[in-house]
Amino acid sequence: MLDLIKARRSIRKYTSEPVTDEQIKTLLEAAMAAPSADNRKPWEFVVVRDAGLRKELSKVHPWAGTAAGAPVVFVVCGRPKDSDHWVEDCSAATQNLLLGVTALGLGAVWVAIYPRAEREDKVQRILNLPMRWRTLCLVPVGHPAETKPSRTQYDPARVHYDAS
Ligand SMILES: Cc1cc2nc3c(=O)[nH]c(=O)nc-3n(C[C@H](O)[C@H](O)[C@H](O)COP(=O)(O)O)c2cc1C
Repeated sequence: MLDLIKARRSIRKYTSEPVTDEQIKTLLEAAMAAPSADNRKPWEFVVVRDAGLRKELSKVHPWAGTAAGAPVVFVVCGRPKDSDHWVEDCSAATQNLLLGVTALGLGAVWVAIYPRAEREDKVQRILNLPMRWRTLCLVPVGHPAETKPSRTQYDPARVHYDAS
């Protein structure tokens, strides 16, 4: 598990090989295994495979282009009315998703949507999401067409023991 955590890197280039339904389910199981405040699980996951929709999502902001080239994009949404911890809970789910991707030998990247209102509006319109949902991020997933080394970014200067 510790090796897996270090092996997770942002992968932005993918081959055309599809991600299977079984892999998608495995990743959703990993995401929904995340901790959530009061175990409210205020998350929703939209699985986008349609090429036209992915292309539209890729234009939501200048660093979202990876959505067009990945065979599947997970859109991680939250229900703020059900928990004021929706951002933390959905972030934990997203990290689980990313680790699941690494475990399956796939590649992915966290593409920020929240907290920019204009980005959220665009995603809401493209996918016709319920207005009561918020969008935390997009996670394009595919078979990696680039490799990056495992690493920790451990920095002792960021560590503080007891009263600092
Ligand atoms: C909250 C958040 C938002 C991010 N947004 C984007 C994004 O919009 N586009 C992108 O290509 N990468 C995005 N990233 C990925 C970061 O650029 C990446 O995690 C960072 O450069 C470290 O590289 P690594 O993931 O390979 O360790 C985001 C990461 C986080 C945690």
